[in-house]
Amino acid sequence: MNTPLFILLLIASLAVTAIPFSIYWIGYLFIPIIAGGGPYVPSKMKDVNDMIRLARIKPTDTVVDLGSGDGRIVIAAALAGAQKSIGYEIYPGLVKRSQKRISQMRLEDCAEVKCQSMWDADLNNITVVFLFQIPYALDRIRHLLESQLTHGARVISNDFKIPGWEPDLSDGNVHLYTIKDA
Ligand SMILES: C[S@@+](CC[C@H](N)C(=O)[O-])C[C@H]1O[C@@H](n2cnc3c(N)ncnc32)[C@H](O)[C@@H]1O
Repeated sequence: MNTPLFILLLIASLAVTAIPFSIYWIGYLFIPIIAGGGPYVPSKMKDVNDMIRLARIKPTDTVVDLGSGDGRIVIAAALAGAQKSIGYEIYPGLVKRSQKRISQMRLEDCAEVKCQSMWDADLNNITVVFLFQIPYALDRIRHLLESQLTHGARVISNDFKIPGWEPDLSDGNVHLYTIKDA
């Protein structure tokens, strides 16, 4: 094989191998961090089940997951009987994946994932908020929750406690908060 052809093939194969890495780094890491949230790390299914159990979802609940990843919490909340389960997710690839799962499970009537920043989320009338976000985002998220949620709303955070708030209950990695009137 002559040298230019070899170099061309080498560059082509490097480019092909680099594509999945680029998708990973750009989609799962850089986009979320630039958007002020945590990178994509899915909650373990045990933690998802614990979050749903702590939320004690009722048929009147409207639920959101702020940074909903592949939609696993949105789907679990819909299956647990929430009237409406909404995810906000910044990375379009994950939104697409969630929407595909929602439609495969025929949950379109009660589950939805928006390709929208959680910082623009409308939390009026939301009764349950799920979170699995990086600690540096939690201060800003607390302000968002305090400014929009009403008395009795529940907030369930995976892994990280919300700074300045005392959980009503912590079970393993999962923390439950209830909004009280100021
Ligand atoms: C640690 S993952 C949690 C995913 C999912 N909630 C779970 O528990 O499996 C954090 C998610 O937040 C998303 N994210 C980060 N910043 C965001 C923003 N500003 N708006 C919406 N989603 C964001 C990331 O893309 C990522 O999917």
